[in-house]
Amino acid sequence: MIEKQLLFVCLGNICRSPGAEAVMRGKVEKSGLSRQIICDSAGIIGFHSGSPADARMQRHAGKRGYKLTSISRQVKPATDFDRFDMIIGMDDQNIVDLNALARTDADRKKIFRMTDFCTQIKYNHVPDPYYGEGDGFELVLDLLEDACSGLIKYLEKP
Ligand code: 4NP
Repeated sequence: MIEKQLLFVCLGNICRSPGAEAVMRGKVEKSGLSRQIICDSAGIIGFHSGSPADARMQRHAGKRGYKLTSISRQVKPATDFDRFDMIIGMDDQNIVDLNALARTDADRKKIFRMTDFCTQIKYNHVPDPYYGEGDGFELVLDLLEDACSGLIKYLEKP
C-alpha cells in the first residue's frame, strides 16, 4: 500500500476527531500498517486550540486501550488539503464546513464522512457528545471502532 495521510475533523477537535485519530492509530498499529497510514486530527473551530482532548473522551477511550495524545488545532485549508489524502468529517455540518473551506474540486474529492465506513452500526453521523452524558462517548467510540475497521479495509483494497 502506498502511504496515505488521513485527517479526522470534528467541530472542536477535543472529542470525536482526537478519538478517531487514536482509535485509527491503534487499529493501524495492530494491522502492522503504521508506516503506511498516518493519522492526524483538527477542528473546524479554533476555540480549543492548544488543549488536550476532553477528559471524558480520554477516560472512555482509555478504558478501551486507546491513549489520546493529540493537542487541538484548527483546520488549515491552505496546507491540510495539500498534505492529506483523505479529510474525514464526523457529521453533516463538518462536511458542509469542509466543502466551504475546499479551494478546488480536487480538494472536495478528499472529503469523506466517517460513518460511510461503518459496516456494523447504521448511523449517518458521529453525534457530538460534548454536552451529553457518558453514554454519548461510548456511542462515539462504538461508531469510531466500526468506521476505522471499515476504513482500513477500504485502504487495503488494491
Ligand atoms: P467535538 O466536540 O467537535 O467532538 O470536539 C465539541 C467540543 C467543543 C464544542 C463543541 C463540540 N464547543 O462548542 O466548544
